[in-house]
Amino acid sequence: MAQHTFILCLLSLLLFVNGYPFDFFQLVEQWGPNTCNDGTQCHAQPQPEFTIHGLWPSNFSNARLFCATRKLFDYGQISLLQGDLVQYWPDVINGNNRRFWSNEWKKHGACIDPPFNITQYFELSLDHHRTYDLLKILNGVWHRNRQMPNNGLAPKDILNPIFNAINKTAGIRCNKNGITKKLQLHEIVLCFDNNGTTLIDCPKFVSNSCNQPKFVWLLPQQSSDGVPDYA
Ligand SMILES: *[C@@H]1O[C@H](CO)[C@@H](O)[C@H](O)[C@H]1NC(C)=O
Ligand SMILES: *[C@@H]1O[C@H](CO)[C@@H](O)[C@H](O)[C@H]1NC(C)=O
Ligand SMILES: *[C@@H]1O[C@H](CO)[C@@H](O)[C@H](O)[C@H]1NC(C)=O
Ligand SMILES: *[C@@H]1O[C@H](CO)[C@@H](O)[C@H](O)[C@H]1NC(C)=O
Repeated sequence: MAQHTFILCLLSLLLFVNGYPFDFFQLVEQWGPNTCNDGTQCHAQPQPEFTIHGLWPSNFSNARLFCATRKLFDYGQISLLQGDLVQYWPDVINGNNRRFWSNEWKKHGACIDPPFNITQYFELSLDHHRTYDLLKILNGVWHRNRQMPNNGLAPKDILNPIFNAINKTAGIRCNKNGITKKLQLHEIVLCFDNNGTTLIDCPKFVSNSCNQPKFVWLLPQQSSDGVPDYA
């Protein structure tokens, strides 16, 4: 036991000397409807909005860190955030929010505690989600242009407006529609330095799953005021 503690201290010391045990964060935001139309059975019709999937400590070597030691998920430490978590980080698939939060924490969050404890991990995610309103950024552009590209999207159709808003390159993740079999926008990723505060350009590999020149999002019904209606 004492030996374990000693080795743990030594490890912590090494990590401290070398900096954080990961290179950057991916804040992954999912488009609910496309999470559910790839063949996944969802508990309810998801809202047409971007909600948090997870905050993933990652390496530039294209390794996502999966926590080996799974700490307990102590819901009490984030219960004050419940209102915001329910709204911005819902379990789109099963509707089992606490289990979703617990899984994300145990898989991605627990191994960076310290330096980020459970409360800080969830607060950080919510803060960034609120600061960078992806739907507002994309709607703003397509509203001004009166329409969204209707012959399919290229990565730049998503990435340029975001770049213009935040001055950094985001990432995009695609999946395949279960019925049309078309590639579709599933998730948008914002990348942050490993101190969690500073936006950085996402590495290219983040966008690897959108590997065709064109993909679809949800082609909106054009309403009379020109604001795309994604519902
Ligand atoms: C990730 O990168 C950090 C620092 O650059 C390094 O210490 C760690 O071993 C890497 N982990 C993996 C799983 O590649
Ligand atoms: C997390 O860290 C913050 C800031 O240091 C502290 O106020 C809070 O009590 C900590 N929470 C837990 C669960 O350790
Ligand atoms: C945007 O990024 C470029 C290059 O990283 C930098 O020179 C410029 O000052 C940034 N602009 C804003 C508004 O942050
Ligand atoms: C986080 O890292 C970035 C880039 O490495 C740096 O510019 C910024 O000052 C850091 N912020 C904090 C709070 O340490």
